[in-house]
Amino acid sequence: MTVLVTGGAGYIGAHTVRALRSSGRKVVVLDTLERGNREAVIDAELIVGDVADQGLVAKICGDKGVSSVIHFAAYKAVGESMLEPEKYWNNNVASTEKMLDVLTEQRVDKFVFSSSAAVYGTPLSMPVTESDPTKPESVYAETKLAVEKLLGAFSQNTDCRLRSVSLRYFNAAGASKDNRIGEDWSSSQNLVPQVMRALLDKDFKLEIFGNDYPTPDGTGVRDYIHVEDLAVAHVKALDYLESGGETLVCNIGTGSGTSVMQVIDLAEKISRKKVPYRIAARRAGDPISVFADARLAEKKLGWKAARGLPEIIESAYEWHRTHPNGYRRGN
Ligand code: UD1
Repeated sequence: MTVLVTGGAGYIGAHTVRALRSSGRKVVVLDTLERGNREAVIDAELIVGDVADQGLVAKICGDKGVSSVIHFAAYKAVGESMLEPEKYWNNNVASTEKMLDVLTEQRVDKFVFSSSAAVYGTPLSMPVTESDPTKPESVYAETKLAVEKLLGAFSQNTDCRLRSVSLRYFNAAGASKDNRIGEDWSSSQNLVPQVMRALLDKDFKLEIFGNDYPTPDGTGVRDYIHVEDLAVAHVKALDYLESGGETLVCNIGTGSGTSVMQVIDLAEKISRKKVPYRIAARRAGDPISVFADARLAEKKLGWKAARGLPEIIESAYEWHRTHPNGYRRGN
């Protein structure tokens, strides 16, 4: 009874591997290491390879006794997805389908998928619920929604009915409490790593993408979820499938919104430093405000965020302060 974690050397994947190990499960990680880090895989076997390699996936399933899969392996840069769409369709969707074919043959019937709140596009009302319309605004988001739909189709397969949970993450941030895993500001353009860079890299100034939004302080509002809470959500999703749960699509957020300026204020308080910033133009495609209705996850998975923005900022600050070069040498 082993859990195969694809992309387990990535930011969210690596945190999830540890949460699975803490829950007593056996774990094997499959990751190309194209964008993941070997050092992030703690206390689990790492196999370097691609989910599209059907022979390899079949062998792992057979050799390791895989009974469920948590699938993170994918590209996730929104901007890049618009410039190189084919690369995204190939890696995120075609490769996933190849793997799903093998899993069906191997009778692996439980699957947790790393989806995104990006599938909603610019939501019409707030908070966003799972039954709200999906309207992806990037190729990245299209590929996430396509896999959700693919999973719906595989759940109809009469040979091996795959049951899945697609977790639509809101804004993952923070680092592990013991400071062993975190993000790299050079490869993530998301707000929290960029705020940390502004605090710690004297040559860098944060750009705030617009302060004239119709929000209380004029800056964009998002739902920041601690990466360790996110990791626990995957364990809960697996518990749910193991106890017979049916295919489900579920938001994973805290349910409350935080503005860019609030993130900066807290980062200044925690670090006791000023965040150098300048107000820049709005970023194309940025919605004004997005936060989750997180009630379904609580009802179906028994999951609720346990950590708030202070834990996110404290852990991120500690990680970036001690790992200014991410996992690379020279820290
Ligand atoms: C991004 C992804 C989304 C993904 C989500 C969760 C984009 C366009 N969207 O969402 O697909 O599901 O992360 O990880 O990349 N901001 C600044 N300055 C910065 C960076 C961000 O002002 O340097 C602002 C943004 O305008 C936004 C907020 O901070 O209001 C959060 O931005 P970001 O962390 O990039 O996440 P999202 O765009 O919400």
